[in-house]
Amino acid sequence: MKRHTIVEYTHDFLRKYIGEGNICIDATAGNGNDTEFLCGLVGSEGKVIAFDIQEDAVNTTRSLLEMFGLDEIAEVYLDSHVNMDAYAEPDSVDGIVFNLGYLPGGDHSICTSAETTIAAIKKGLTLLKPDGVMSVSVYSGKDSGFDEKDAVLSFLEALDSKDYTVIKNEFINKPNHPPIPVFIFKNY
Ligand SMILES: C[S@@+](CC[C@H](N)C(=O)[O-])C[C@H]1O[C@@H](n2cnc3c(N)ncnc32)[C@H](O)[C@@H]1O
Repeated sequence: MKRHTIVEYTHDFLRKYIGEGNICIDATAGNGNDTEFLCGLVGSEGKVIAFDIQEDAVNTTRSLLEMFGLDEIAEVYLDSHVNMDAYAEPDSVDGIVFNLGYLPGGDHSICTSAETTIAAIKKGLTLLKPDGVMSVSVYSGKDSGFDEKDAVLSFLEALDSKDYTVIKNEFINKPNHPPIPVFIFKNY
């Protein structure tokens, strides 16, 4: 049964806009599921640049890619997504994925934060090609609290609609602060 989780829903969105030969960034590699998914979309002619600040996450992501024979497509860096502009040129990236929060199965105190997430999103927007897309999966409640969600949504809501189209999706019948998928298009 397809449950339309935020991951499935976001992947369905990305499938529409990312294709073979594209360049993508996974800003939060975690267990590598999004990196692996993006590698499948861009194929051997494309490239995925992935970041995480946790060595365990980087190792898990690299192992997953090796298992699926995708390790030639992705570069996985132990670095903060705030530094993503050191790895790609402005207007060169087709898609960027942020999956905020903490590493599932990991230490919940090591998680994304409002300040660095917003700084990284700003850089990501400059790296996107005209007509490039960004997805931001925003979590709140429990260990995540509400500060990051409030700050990130306020930042995205204030983006100039001339330059960016921002679509916030909502799971309206899920209890307990459901995650929020946000999709951003760089207008051209
Ligand atoms: C929800 S998990 C990502 C899940 C992942 N996309 C997957 O498919 O398994 C969030 C990840 O963001 C990482 N993270 C937190 N702050 C970061 C930062 N400044 N730069 C890069 N990664 C960061 C965490 O270490 C954690 O692994």
